[in-house]
Amino acid sequence: MTPPPVPIVDLADLGFEEGAHLLVRRALKHLPPGAELGVTGGDQALPDQLRTWCRKLGHHVRLPDDGDANVRAWVVRGSADLDRWTQAQRAGGATPDGIVPRADPSWGLAARGALVEPGGPVPPFDLIDRDLVWADIAPGLYTSAVAAQWNPDVVIQWDAEFTLPDEIERAVVQVMTYLVENKQAALVVLARLLGRIHPHFREVQQLLAVQIADEARHLEVFSRRALLKGGVLGTSSVSGRESLGTLLAEPDFSLASFLLSVLGEGSFLNLLSFLDRHAPDPVTRQVTRLTRQDEARHVAFGVAHLQHQAAVDPALRGRLRTVVERRHEALAGTGGMNEDVFEALVTLAAGEWTPAAIGRGHEKVRLLQREMYEGRRHRLIRLGFPANEAAELSSLHTRNLM
Ligand SMILES: [Fe+2]
Repeated sequence: MTPPPVPIVDLADLGFEEGAHLLVRRALKHLPPGAELGVTGGDQALPDQLRTWCRKLGHHVRLPDDGDANVRAWVVRGSADLDRWTQAQRAGGATPDGIVPRADPSWGLAARGALVEPGGPVPPFDLIDRDLVWADIAPGLYTSAVAAQWNPDVVIQWDAEFTLPDEIERAVVQVMTYLVENKQAALVVLARLLGRIHPHFREVQQLLAVQIADEARHLEVFSRRALLKGGVLGTSSVSGRESLGTLLAEPDFSLASFLLSVLGEGSFLNLLSFLDRHAPDPVTRQVTRLTRQDEARHVAFGVAHLQHQAAVDPALRGRLRTVVERRHEALAGTGGMNEDVFEALVTLAAGEWTPAAIGRGHEKVRLLQREMYEGRRHRLIRLGFPANEAAELSSLHTRNLM
């Protein structure tokens, strides 16, 4: 049997600083340790550069014998692995869809499914368990959230002609002032949570990122509506800021998203519907209608994520209960919703300054509060709370709504 021909790689005039090592490495790839590879080429520095490269990778270089024709050097393949990635592990499964129950912090920012070279910095992502952040609807919700993004300049008719009585305009501005403040809280809470999620769960990151963009847009449109007629903003109460302060102070991801999305934004869905119904002008109506569509997604993710977690962690409901009770106690001595906001809602629902109209407006705001209570109760039941407990917890929710 004739031995297989000795492999030769021809580098032509390509130098090592021009990529010649790629050809050498490729030619060595299928040779066993101890086998020789002839290297030919015209670059003056070839033998020196080849020696340096081989030393680094554990191969040896042998100078050619007289009869070796054009061969400039022989590379004796070392036993070290040519592939520095053999020791590396993948960040999760081998496919980008391979989501694992617990992400390794040492994967850092590596793409899911990438081969991760061992070593390097370990970023401080502390939400590394899938069940703490995940919901199966997250990828689909992200896709629809992206498709549903809207441009305030395009979709809202800011130049629609209308003039409101001063007191009605002031009521709108007061409500917008309150909405801006609450949206600020939502944006900050989400941004903080987002920065803690391990990149392995990137669909949740993406969804929260779009949610943050939603909140940014809401801040814009509520502010623009408030200032549309050249007025000054309304009031911000201590009690409102105290309520939002307890939300911002909640470090637990699930508890924070429960307070924010399930209870807070859930209540806002009713508020925005109310404002849509009683909007005294087309801009206010458009602004509240569009923001409500986004908020419905935010609530959907919050509920789905907590449903997922409650299914795998029966103790979760106890913790959700505790956080509502604790917050209720912390806010017990505070004034609840800003009175100016409450009165603005009554004014908008009344529409005119007669005793009968104000009475009706007041009743409608009471009805709104009842709807909010019912909405929260239903969502709590969806999280698995018994009916009586859901009713109790719904009634303990902050009167600031968020
Ligand atoms: Fe939101």
